Amino acid sequence: MNVLILGSGGREHAFAWKLAQSPKLDNLFIAPGNAGTAQVGTNIEIGVNDFDAIKDFVLSNDIKIVVVGPEDPLVNGIHDFFLADDELKSVGVIGPKKDGAELEGSKEFSKKFMIKHGVPTAKYQSFTSTNLEDGYTFLETLQPPYVLKADGLAAGKGVLILDDLAEAKIELANMTNGKFGDASATVVIEEFLHGIELSVFVLTDGESYKILPSAKDYKRIGEGDKGLNTGGMGAISPVPFADEAYLQKVEELVVKPTVAGLKADGIDYKGFIFIGLMNDNGNPSVVEYNVRMGDPETEVVIPRIKSDLLDLFEGVANQTLHEKTFEVDERIATTVMLVSGGYPEAYEKGKVITGFDAIENGIPFHAGTKQEGDNTVTSGGRVLALTSFGETIKEALSYSFANAEKVNFEKKNYRKDIGFDLI
Ligand code: AMP
Ligand code: GLY
Repeated sequence: MNVLILGSGGREHAFAWKLAQSPKLDNLFIAPGNAGTAQVGTNIEIGVNDFDAIKDFVLSNDIKIVVVGPEDPLVNGIHDFFLADDELKSVGVIGPKKDGAELEGSKEFSKKFMIKHGVPTAKYQSFTSTNLEDGYTFLETLQPPYVLKADGLAAGKGVLILDDLAEAKIELANMTNGKFGDASATVVIEEFLHGIELSVFVLTDGESYKILPSAKDYKRIGEGDKGLNTGGMGAISPVPFADEAYLQKVEELVVKPTVAGLKADGIDYKGFIFIGLMNDNGNPSVVEYNVRMGDPETEVVIPRIKSDLLDLFEGVANQTLHEKTFEVDERIATTVMLVSGGYPEAYEKGKVITGFDAIENGIPFHAGTKQEGDNTVTSGGRVLALTSFGETIKEALSYSFANAEKVNFEKKNYRKDIGFDLI
């Protein structure tokens, strides 16, 4: 079977690395990919939102499954585009249609969905520039800190958490007035949830589902979870406090009503659901849904899946997921992200990366890299996710950190405290 992966980050390298091990795979292509994906498949220079070029490539290369990495093409309707085309409609697309992608594309939609289907989540109301006064009144009913979310996609920057009521009111006005463009024309204000965050991932064919390993991501640039938000500086799977009893609760209270709710609402959902949870004393509450896998969570979740990922994707495409076996490696996986100096603010690209040969007990997943002749060079803020296994978090991290020392490029930066709160 020939497979096309869309995307170019560490998540897509982890998918490619895993799919390349499948006995069902013939040819693997990644659009546009990076220097890492080129080691396990063939990169093609097509953008993830160039649907016409993707169509031509899929037809001329007999692609049977398209795995959509990032949310953008999903929110833009790539799955609907395939279904509406007689030549493409039999191709399996891993990722929801536009209606399902709204779970990530609109915070207001996802909050309404959760309330309607009884999924535990923080109480909320949404506002626009036409009812700002009501927004101020709602803010006055809440305890600080105040959580303000742009309804639409805002490149991960659309959430403000503010301690001061006056400031929250000013920001509400700014947001509805275009602070994040159209994305913040509607603002969701919600109650602040206390607790520790973790993520649970679900793969569904619209009928049945598999719950993938849990993971915890470290989003801030600085040690001790300080400083600016990033795409993610490291991750650990599984999360120690998410034991069997807790995950059972998550399945009953969150996963089942989510999958059943999609079906009840006529949303035929095929793909990943990334559920961001806040754990408050053993009680899960949903912070957000994403309609894709997380990055760098994928770099610890996928290596722990022992089953054939292509077989599972085939099950999603044919709605036979319930027939598939699903086995998970009991060991702990950790990943430490090497980033370009200056990230998540301005940084330089094109730095030569050395030390790949010195990596021991680890898998380097490429995030922002490209091949220039004999050199692999940096081409993004997040450069490499160094994943390792261990019997304990400490052991796995010791390999990830040792490799983070050995792999080098000018102005390399990484967090030396990934997992600090779990050890
Ligand atoms: P979101 O894009 O909705 O995931 O929000 C981004 C981040 O803001 C989350 O990962 C949390 O760390 C934080 N956050 C969002 N909503 C809440 C909430 N209701 N209470 C506490 N923290 C939140
Ligand atoms: N690591 C967080 C995300 O992928 O959204």
